Amino acid sequence: SDEMSDSTDEEKEASKYGPAISQGDVVEPNKNSNMYKMEESNVQVVTASSKSCNKTINGIVSSTETKLNTKEIKNIQRQPTVYVDVIRDDEIQEARLKLPILAEEQYIIEVINENEIIIIAGETGSGKTTQVPQFLYEAGYALKKQICITEPRRVAAISMSQRVAEEMNLSTQIVSYLIRFEGNVTEETKIKFVTDGVLLKEIHSDFLLTKYSVIILDEAHERTVYTDILIGLLSRIVPLRKKKGDPLKLIIMSATLRVSDFTENQRLFKVAPPVINVESRQFPVTTHFNKRTVENYLKEAYSKVIKIHSKLPEGGILVFLTGQHEVNLLVKKLRITFPLNMKDKLIAEKERIEPNADYNNYPNDFDKNSKGTNKKRNNNQTHINLDDYSIPNDNESNSGEEDELFSDEEDLIGNSSVYHNAQPLWVLPLYSLLPSQKQQQVFKPPPIGYRLCIISTNIAETSLTIPNIKYVVDSGRAKIKLYDKVTGLTSYVVRWTSKASANQRAGRAGRTCPGHCYRLYSSAVFNNEFEDFATPEIQKRPVDDLYLQMKCMNIDKVTNFPFPTAPDLLQLKAAESRLEILGALRNNEVTSLGQSISKFPVLPRFGKMLALSNQHDLFSHTICLVAALSVQEVFLETPWSGSSEEKKQLRQKWASLRREWAGTGNSLLLGDNGVLLRAIGAAEYANSQGKLKEFCQINGLRFNAVTDIRKLRLQLTLEINKNIPALDIIVDPKMEPFNDIQAKLLRQILLAGLGDQIAKKVSLEEANQFKEKAKYKYAYKANSMEDFVFLHQNSVLKKTLPEFVIFQEIYETDKIYMRGVSAIDPEWLPTFVPELCNLSEPLLDPPPFYNEKEGSIYCTVRGTFGTQAWTLPEVKIP
Ligand code: CDP
Ligand code: MG
Repeated sequence: SDEMSDSTDEEKEASKYGPAISQGDVVEPNKNSNMYKMEESNVQVVTASSKSCNKTINGIVSSTETKLNTKEIKNIQRQPTVYVDVIRDDEIQEARLKLPILAEEQYIIEVINENEIIIIAGETGSGKTTQVPQFLYEAGYALKKQICITEPRRVAAISMSQRVAEEMNLSTQIVSYLIRFEGNVTEETKIKFVTDGVLLKEIHSDFLLTKYSVIILDEAHERTVYTDILIGLLSRIVPLRKKKGDPLKLIIMSATLRVSDFTENQRLFKVAPPVINVESRQFPVTTHFNKRTVENYLKEAYSKVIKIHSKLPEGGILVFLTGQHEVNLLVKKLRITFPLNMKDKLIAEKERIEPNADYNNYPNDFDKNSKGTNKKRNNNQTHINLDDYSIPNDNESNSGEEDELFSDEEDLIGNSSVYHNAQPLWVLPLYSLLPSQKQQQVFKPPPIGYRLCIISTNIAETSLTIPNIKYVVDSGRAKIKLYDKVTGLTSYVVRWTSKASANQRAGRAGRTCPGHCYRLYSSAVFNNEFEDFATPEIQKRPVDDLYLQMKCMNIDKVTNFPFPTAPDLLQLKAAESRLEILGALRNNEVTSLGQSISKFPVLPRFGKMLALSNQHDLFSHTICLVAALSVQEVFLETPWSGSSEEKKQLRQKWASLRREWAGTGNSLLLGDNGVLLRAIGAAEYANSQGKLKEFCQINGLRFNAVTDIRKLRLQLTLEINKNIPALDIIVDPKMEPFNDIQAKLLRQILLAGLGDQIAKKVSLEEANQFKEKAKYKYAYKANSMEDFVFLHQNSVLKKTLPEFVIFQEIYETDKIYMRGVSAIDPEWLPTFVPELCNLSEPLLDPPPFYNEKEGSIYCTVRGTFGTQAWTLPEVKIP
């Protein structure tokens, strides 16, 4: 860049210690910022101590004659740092001075000036996230380039950018955020909070991240996949920028957990980066274990809150649950138990709760409808309309096991007793998808006379610090993403959290005074079943998407990539071979199809399905299918309740409904996936009539699964419309029923995405070769399995038994069954999964032949499924 070309050696030397700023540089005054023209005459000498406390200093930009806060850093050479003044409100400055990290400001800046990469470790609440960006800004790091801070969570990116803007008296045009769907970044942005995924995307288009002078990776201890990859990439980018004479600083910030993963990994950093430990004041927290570990921790948490509130002295309560849905349930229940009186309700409406703006931005009526149904339910409750005290709609996926907890939702809410005379309780939810204005509520003190009670997911564990918490109630669980090793599909399940996390949670009670932590599980469970630390995400999920993304970034040997914790080799190999079959990689190079696939925000196999559907105007159907395939157990195989006769009737009803949904022709061949699409379509219609819940009940669909699918559809549609402008189309979120031609195309699209999950029917002879009497009426052989696989009783293809099928997943009960089955035509194999096929060659037997009339070639196609070879004679090759 031009900054580089005309810089002198001296400046280059200076730039080692900070951003290159030369005399006479003009920084445009901005009415919202405090940066002015820099002139020699304005340069003043300030000391470290005056810097932290003095609000106004005549010189706007000064060079600091650093007066180091002595003890640790005698050996660091003193270097001038440029100083940009920030004028803060007295109140803010007072609060800042109480943060432990303020004492380390000068030290931190010195170490950053001296080193390219540093690690800052400190307890939650010590001020890392809010203060370090300010230190850097004041030290001049935002004069020429931007300061970027990554957060694993969207909510932290938004709220921290707002907080820092407020503390610095700067507008949100200067201190901004950018997350996947939204942002307020402008040309003038100096400090930018982004989600880690967003920065990774930026590396795609600008590998050296030339916009930035500093990258701060916050919450690195959370070990999200994106932050891990960023650390690996930046460990290489930083030296490259240094070599170019345009140094980039990297700050890794983390809670005080496992910092050694970053410092003792020589492949990552040859020389361990310096670690600054921020001491913080922590009051003792008394931990109380439950004698017994209860299954229904939601109910247990509820009674624990009531006990604390009615028996223990004042002080805020913080409850850790696992997901948004649970949080909302408990909030509702507590609000019914401790209803607001009329006056306080008005406070809630007028002063504290902002209009629910975030939820009105959706381009269609999905959400309005579901809000409608919610309202209806809430009106049954007599005390207050809970919508006014505003809990937004559920927006997060909760599938899988946790539903068991919610099955008694009605019961839980219905049975609440009302405590009219108790001290009032100010109950607020906190989770990552909560609109940011609502999320800000937790930082404000409750109305006078109220006790604060926050029901949170593990977001309050380290990313957000809530003031004045004295009691922590810990469910001990966390919602984690699991992946199915066979299909690569992910699902959410509730599991025990780690010892490290449980201790972090407990620590939240000791920020302002001695506190108590109530663990809703026994000490035996804690000692025997909790892992010390959570496994880094990268070892818990398929890495197909990362593998592809990294290849798209020209990282040749992914196995050599300096991961902080490497995924295991099998994981990488499996990803590579799946990507080869998908056609995203060939000879370990990304194909142009692979490039398109990588643009979709879903797993590569689904990305391929979406990419292909673009050609046939099938986007809305494929989006629906991808959403439906990402949610587990849409159909209920057994009814919840009723006599065995009733159950039998229900099962029959569902079976006939499924036959009806299956249709004929290509629709029937689309099989279980066709039924799924029609079911979702019908549910959509029921929803528009405000009858979704009844519809699900009558037709044997799992309500939570159906609502999750709707949300995912909406999210994918939005994302594709917004973020893939290259498509130049707008996908209609509505879905028309599919016709026969579309059904055929959808079968091909499914084959294209699930080409590694094909099964072929074997002969009866073969099926029974190891049996004494002919036992099996049919059997399939899948390319991933040694054993035979079968169609489930509920599959609509059970009668048809097509020659070749693709399946969504395999599961084992009495036999190994395929789930989500569609029939495919074998002639499609050479076109859609050529990697699995060998075509006969002219000199081999039998040779291909040319049909003059048709103008096409017929070949013998051979392939192997696991150990099993197959041959298709005379397949027309397109
Ligand atoms: O990042 P770290 O956990 O070290 O601390 P932080 O997030 O920078 O928080 C420092 C202090 O600012 C805490 O005491 C928070 O309670 C406070 N804070 C606040 O009052 N309002 C916000 N929106 C964010 C932080
Ligand atoms: Mg933080």
